[in-house]
Amino acid sequence: MYVCLCHGVTDRTIREAAENGVSSMRQLGKELGVGTQCGRCASTARQILRESQTPD
Ligand code: FES
Repeated sequence: MYVCLCHGVTDRTIREAAENGVSSMRQLGKELGVGTQCGRCASTARQILRESQTPD
């Protein structure tokens, strides 16, 4: 499913980024552009990011 239409980023891509160490929206925006254009994807992206983080 596309989360960020502006940059064509899917939930899967966000999960992969999280596995590779991306841990914040700021980082996600830097790496993939998520949330940096219209911002509509931000809350969904944040949720996916949170869900894919391993609790420490
Ligand atoms: Fe992600 Fe627009 S949908 S910035």
